[in-house]
Amino acid sequence: MPKIVIAIDGYSSCGKSTTAKQVAARLGYAYIDTGAMYRAVSLFLLQNHIALTNPKAVQEALHHIHISFNFNPKTGRNETCLNSLNIEEEIRKMYISDIVSEVSAIPEVRYAMVAQQQKMGRKRGVVMDGRDIGTKVFPDAELKIFMTADPVIRAQRRQIELLQKGEMVGLDEILTNLKKRDFIDSNRSEGPLRKADDAIELDTSYITLDEQADWVVQLADEKIAEL
Ligand code: DC
Repeated sequence: MPKIVIAIDGYSSCGKSTTAKQVAARLGYAYIDTGAMYRAVSLFLLQNHIALTNPKAVQEALHHIHISFNFNPKTGRNETCLNSLNIEEEIRKMYISDIVSEVSAIPEVRYAMVAQQQKMGRKRGVVMDGRDIGTKVFPDAELKIFMTADPVIRAQRRQIELLQKGEMVGLDEILTNLKKRDFIDSNRSEGPLRKADDAIELDTSYITLDEQADWVVQLADEKIAEL
């Protein structure tokens, strides 16, 4: 059966990654969380006290950053590793969310991550979620989805997620962070968050995660059947 690339882009906390994971599992595809890659770079730059305003230092740091997704038998999931260290939990914390949009707006960082993502998906059979997958990473993706949702609903979902991980954060703080990230992500010069012309839009405000995944799998099946 032919394999396709499924690009899932959209705003923060619309359910992109949960949907992408489910879809990948159901189709037997690889799932690549590109946001995790930018989060991993953010963690490295913070840990090594590298100024985001110093492009030369950032460029140099990128040579020392190796990101991989490794299967963890304890959780049954692929988890993000930075230089072989599992950083899956650390990169989801609020202090990383606070700087990740600034880090991902640095052109040098984007060039390096986009090149890696293109390599990861070159054999197709991948579901990739992010902000620029359908426009920049895989403009030739066979299926492109663009997710949106009401900002307050997104903030509530994010709050529950953080709470489940033991981090208690106020709704206002989360909403401010989401809006700030959306703004920076949409207005940067390199690879801004944008709906590709041929992407199908999905508002996830009032549908369940299972419904989101069912819908994407159905579209994917239709695309595969056309090939
Ligand atoms: O999907 P996420 O919230 O984990 O992504 C974290 C940040 O990374 C997000 O604010 C924007 C950035 N990002 C990006 O610029 N391009 C991508 N393809 C994925 C994420």
